[in-house]
Amino acid sequence: MAEKQTILLTGGSGFIGTNMVRLLIDSGHYRVVNFDALTYAANPSSLDDLNGNPNYEFVNGNITDRELVSSLFAKYHPAGVMHLAAESHVDRSIVSAEDFVQTNVVGTYTMLEAARLYWNGLPEQEKKSFRFLHVSTDEVFGSLGPEGYFSEETPYAPNSPYSASKASSDHFVRAYYHTYGLPTVITNCSNNYGPYQFPEKLIPLMILNALSGKLLPVYGDGSNVRDWIYVEDHCKAVRLAFEKGRPGEVYAVGGGNEQKNLNLVNQICSILDDVAPPVEIPELRERGLQSYKDLIRFVTDRPGHDRRYAIDSAKITRELGWQPEVGFEVGLRRTIEWYLTNPKWVDQASAGSYGEWIEKNYAWRAGKESK
Ligand code: NAD
Ligand code: TYD
Repeated sequence: MAEKQTILLTGGSGFIGTNMVRLLIDSGHYRVVNFDALTYAANPSSLDDLNGNPNYEFVNGNITDRELVSSLFAKYHPAGVMHLAAESHVDRSIVSAEDFVQTNVVGTYTMLEAARLYWNGLPEQEKKSFRFLHVSTDEVFGSLGPEGYFSEETPYAPNSPYSASKASSDHFVRAYYHTYGLPTVITNCSNNYGPYQFPEKLIPLMILNALSGKLLPVYGDGSNVRDWIYVEDHCKAVRLAFEKGRPGEVYAVGGGNEQKNLNLVNQICSILDDVAPPVEIPELRERGLQSYKDLIRFVTDRPGHDRRYAIDSAKITRELGWQPEVGFEVGLRRTIEWYLTNPKWVDQASAGSYGEWIEKNYAWRAGKESK
């Protein structure tokens, strides 16, 4: 059997990173070095079962730490980088963009610069096969009206501090290819959902709020549209782009699954009414809750809230043979089941300062709440 390739993967203790690490290790082709600062969004226990696995190593550290980053290239001699570490929540970026600039912009630059120096010193064959795969978002393209799709040709128009920081990181990645020839590949993907997602994002927030009888806050009128992709489908696209993507190229990745937020929250409630009916949960039964839908509330809209995202994935389908495999109904049920059967993970993710942070910082939502 061919020798395993080492990948230096940043952000492996977050949502997509955890799923990505599992996909790579399960493939049997890779050894993964997970380099993660364990911010509030990380849950180190997500990968507990890999402790002691010879193909997995965890390094606790920050991607802005230039010395540490350089030492990891020297120590592990990776065949490539998968760069996922980021501050990822739009609402937080509205409250303060500081961490987003540090991690997403300065951190990506630091990773690129260390990768470039390492790559320069590689023998010709390794230099040719090296890849710096940058995981990015469709949010860099701004907002769509009712028609049309984002593609690799769409001009950048980031609207939130989060998307501005990701756009900036994409531009640095592009510049490192054009200026230095570093073999980079960028993927711009739509909204992910699935196991291990931190419960500040729409889908896990709604699932867990509902199960504990809390209100389900829908921003604005609930008609904003997102294109949802099951996280494993995204991870498969990233792996393909890493293995077969052409240097300097960008691949747009989407689930082909547009949902209005309110419609999606209603679907979550319907599945929950079916698999964990409120009458079977003593506190909710006592409150007389008939359906989780009764917890839905419209709240003040997010400032600058992008109206619609949708992706045309034709290029990655045509060039790399990728397409999403998990249908939305199946993926959503699977996700809900996962949150229901992993209470320990949920407790760990919900502990700490997250609740306080919401109370203190979601000032813009405090103005309005209606049924
Ligand atoms: P996440 O917030 O769940 O996880 C981010 C991880 O990065 C965490 O483990 C965190 O500890 C780590 N991290 C943060 N700052 C760091 C730093 N300075 N140094 C080292 N590690 C640090 O994010 P996610 O949803 O898994 O997203 C992963 C990547 O995918 C991000 O780059 C994001 O922009 C991109 N993306 C996300 C989505 C989505 O829907 N979640 C869609 C498209 C692209
Ligand atoms: P989110 O999961 O934060 O992802 P993003 O902002 O990156 O798309 O939000 C998805 C959509 O759900 C977005 O249109 C905002 C909306 N939303 C709510 O209506 N209520 C909420 O509590 C949250 C967190 C999001």
